[in-house]
This record gives sequence, C-alpha cells and structure tokens, in this order.
Amino acid sequence: MYESPEFIARQLRKPSGDFAGTIAEKMGEGNRSLYDLMLGSMLIKDHDSILEIGFGSGTHFSDLLARAKNINVTGIDYSPDMTNMAKTNNKDEQRAGRLKLHTGNSNRLPFEDNSFHTVFCNMVIYFWDDPAEHLGEIQRVLKPGGLFYTGMRTRDSMLQFPFTKFGFNLYSIDQWKSVLQSHGFFIVRELRQKDPVFDDGENRVELESVSIAAKKQG
Ligand SMILES: C[S@@+](CC[C@H](N)C(=O)[O-])C[C@H]1O[C@@H](n2cnc3c(N)ncnc32)[C@H](O)[C@@H]1O
Repeated sequence: MYESPEFIARQLRKPSGDFAGTIAEKMGEGNRSLYDLMLGSMLIKDHDSILEIGFGSGTHFSDLLARAKNINVTGIDYSPDMTNMAKTNNKDEQRAGRLKLHTGNSNRLPFEDNSFHTVFCNMVIYFWDDPAEHLGEIQRVLKPGGLFYTGMRTRDSMLQFPFTKFGFNLYSIDQWKSVLQSHGFFIVRELRQKDPVFDDGENRVELESVSIAAKKQG
C-alpha cells in the first residue's frame, strides 16, 4: 500500500493509530545499526540511572540493561501507542523494576532535577521545533557532569528520504554540536559509522550513523 511521504513524516514524528505497528517495525529495522553504535558508545557504570527520550517500540532495552550491573533505565515517549508497544515488549524488565516507561513530552520531563547519569535519544532531535525547551529540560534532569548522547544520521543521509521534506529539522554534525554548545553542553566525543545499505523496497539508501556525547558542567 502506498503511503505519502508527508504521512510517513507525521508517523515518524509521532506514531499513532493503525499504522503505528508498521512504522515501529520499520524504525526498529532501519535504526538497529544506530542503536548498536549508541549502546556501544555509551560509558555506563554499574548502578547508573539512564533516561531515553523517544524510545519507539523499545526492542533494544534488554541490550541496554545488559551493559552493566544493576542499572536503572527510564524511558519517555509522547506517543501512547509507542509506550504501550514498548511495555508489551519489555514485560520482564519492568516486572524486575529495572525499566520504567512513561508517556510524555521531552519539553516537560516529569523527573526531579539531577536524576540521571546519562540521557540519550536516537532519531528524535529532528522533531524538536524549539530545541532550547528540550535541551533545557535535559540539563535540568542530568546530574552534574552527566552525559547527553544524541543519536542521529548525517544530514546527507537524511536527505535521501523523501519524507524529510515534511517537518524535519535536519542538522549537520557541526550544526548540532553548536546547538549543544550554545545550551551549555561541552562536546566530549563523536563517533560515526557507515551503516549497511538499507533497502525496504521503497527506499534504497546508504546511511551514516552518528553518536555525539556532550557533558553537563560538573
Ligand atoms: C523516528 S522515531 C525514533 C524511534 C527510536 N528512537 C528509533 O530510533 O528507532 C521518533 C520517536 O520519538 C518520539 N518523540 C518525538 N518527539 C518527542 C518528544 N518531544 N517527546 C517525547 N517523545 C518524542 C516519537 O513518538 C517516536 O517514538
């Protein structure tokens, strides 16, 4: 079935309704390599508390929880469909008290100041029409010296998708690093990786994943 690029863009911004399962599956496949880069790049210690913004279907949480001993992971996504799907996909992790999932917007995080050692998000910054309100909240909930990791694709990668014409805020790596710096973060590290060719029958694209680590003043 043909879905217009505009419709796909709206669904990627906030999956909802009958198409939510389909888009979640496509995101899960298409962004697996970015999650591999992100999870491998994060400096995580035993007992750390970690927040993910915009987790989608959440099929990666068991891999994240295996990164260190007794870490606690919290997720927030403003799509109720994604929260429900991620809850269904992670029953054991929630029952064990290691994963808490919330529905909510990252411009108003329902968490105390200085709560998390690490905050990260993959493929979410494109939908922050005013990054200041989200980055301010991330600064607030991070502990002093905590790290915020942005997972994204390069601007050239994203321009291969017709749907990015519709409401995506795209950044080059340097542009996004400048945004982070102008909101009080110090850039610590940048990792890049060429992904395997992605071909879903509609798009055949060569993507480059990026993970940028930025520190809150300690
Ligand atoms: C393109 S999907 C990426 C999902 C997953 N992180 C991945 O890489 O496959 C964007 C996700 O972020 C969520 N999202 C977008 N803006 C958000 C915001 N302001 N607050 C919370 N969640 C947001 C959407 O609901 C969606 O699940």
